Amino acid sequence: MTRDAPVAIHDLGPAAAGLLAELHALCFDRPWAESDFTALLASPGTVALVAERSGEPAGLAVGRVVLDEAEVLTIGVVPAARRHGLGRVLMAALTARLHAAGARQLHLEVSEINRPASALYHDLGFVVTGRRRGYYADGSTAITMMRLLGPA
Ligand SMILES: CC(C)(COP(=O)(O)OP(=O)(O)OC[C@H]1O[C@@H](n2cnc3c(N)ncnc32)[C@H](O)[C@@H]1OP(=O)(O)O)[C@@H](O)C(=O)NCCC(=O)NCCS
Repeated sequence: MTRDAPVAIHDLGPAAAGLLAELHALCFDRPWAESDFTALLASPGTVALVAERSGEPAGLAVGRVVLDEAEVLTIGVVPAARRHGLGRVLMAALTARLHAAGARQLHLEVSEINRPASALYHDLGFVVTGRRRGYYADGSTAITMMRLLGPA
């Protein structure tokens, strides 16, 4: 897989909970259940995206907007497709949709031991807003981050 392989971003609806759960399980040690995605997709303001590279689902991103604040709920790229720019493409697509839906601030959380994700978020202009000790199941500390999205 190369950075030049064609990428398509798809907006997903309630019928896609199974696909999101499958992709999430490939990306994370502690996968979310299909029912978690069903509930999320039924919740107002949720944006769910899948990235296809060369026609194969290779990543997901889910966010939610409430009034002018939005949150990245999850983002992942399957291991075989990492470091080819897909995480950056997914974040850009998710941010654009949340911004268009009214978000002016975008929040997220990342484990302090997750160097790839932290590097991506710093690179995209997120700034650290706080720390939550022992927040994750593995005992690691969550770093909370935020990026201003500005006016429409
Ligand atoms: C975080 C994640 C989504 C990044 O996806 P990706 O497609 O590999 O990221 P990209 O190729 O778009 O990389 C974009 C930038 O992120 C940073 N980055 C990504 N992976 C990195 C790594 N392993 N080490 C250091 N920096 C990294 C770099 O700044 C990179 O820019 P560059 O390629 O110009 O150096 C992916 O590693 C992943 O799915 N991890 C497991 C799930 C996860 O932890 N999700 C985030 C939860 S908060």
